[in-house]
Amino acid sequence: MLETKNLSKHYYNGYRQIIALDKVSLNFEKGKVYGVVGHNGAGKTTLIKLLCGLVFPTYGFVYINKKSLYPKNFELLSNIGAILEGSRNIFWNLTPLQNVKYFSMLRGLSYKNILPVAKSYFEIFELEDKLNTPVRNLSQGMKQKLAIIVSLLHNPEILLLDEPTLGLDPNSSYSMQKLIRDIAVTQKKLVIITSHQLNLIEKLSDELVLLSKGSVCYFGSIKNFVTKKSEQVYILTLTSRDDKTFNKEILKYKPKLERIGGEIFATIRIPESDLDQVLTHLVYRNTKILNIEKQNSSLEEVFLKEVAK
Ligand SMILES: Nc1ncnc2c1ncn2[C@@H]1O[C@H](COP(=O)(O)OP(=O)(O)OP(=O)(O)O)[C@@H](O)[C@H]1O
Ligand SMILES: [Mg+2]
Repeated sequence: MLETKNLSKHYYNGYRQIIALDKVSLNFEKGKVYGVVGHNGAGKTTLIKLLCGLVFPTYGFVYINKKSLYPKNFELLSNIGAILEGSRNIFWNLTPLQNVKYFSMLRGLSYKNILPVAKSYFEIFELEDKLNTPVRNLSQGMKQKLAIIVSLLHNPEILLLDEPTLGLDPNSSYSMQKLIRDIAVTQKKLVIITSHQLNLIEKLSDELVLLSKGSVCYFGSIKNFVTKKSEQVYILTLTSRDDKTFNKEILKYKPKLERIGGEIFATIRIPESDLDQVLTHLVYRNTKILNIEKQNSSLEEVFLKEVAK
């Protein structure tokens, strides 16, 4: 449904060429959430902008439903809803309702038909009492929620979200995650999301696009990526009466310590490769092990370990 072929974008800074995106070929299917991750400057925003016609590729193609978006098939953009990172996706001098009206008209939609849809989103994001407040007087998170609502009004098949949870409180971030899963899984749409919150990407996405310096390092199932690259870790819960148990060798794992009466309770995450050594030390110190639990590393841990800067 959405495909890129050798998609590339070069910027010029004086005579210096910056390769923001380099020969990226990806195939996105509907019904799935794709998480795009990578360091600052990896090319995530550039990819999103190229997918929604905001910058022209230097070369390469974007196909929406098998039709090429460039050089000028911009009517295809009616299939897309997008939120761009940090930019003003909505008008700050208008109220949320006026924004809904403006963007409905811009997209040739009937405001009367769109209003109930918008109101159901306002309810999800608990914005009902701000409908007539100028956007400039809303909090950062409220502005972001309104931008999300506006991007959904025309019921697009493809939703592109560049850092959508920036500024959202935990409750709103949770509602947003539920909504995104619903859009992909129940409504069978395609969602592409970028974020530096790797725990969110891991929870939300089916597929991972890992970018580094404009190139794709990994494209595929997020679960496979984490399982293949991860080192098993063990969560130890233990108790000891001896302060010396928690020497430098143990403190380097940043254990969570709690002193109750004369006893110290600790929870420690140990990589598999260090387990023998740590257990030997603990047994020597007369520690009581309460529990050992095996866990896979998280996407964040794999990313920090594997992805070169
Ligand atoms: N308009 C522009 N002119 C010149 N260079 C640009 C422009 N936009 C982006 N770049 C460069 O392209 C590269 C990729 O930038 P991009 O914004 O896509 O990164 P990103 O992965 O979104 O980073 P971040 O995580 O910081 O948002 C960077 O080196 C950036 O400096
Ligand atoms: Mg960006």
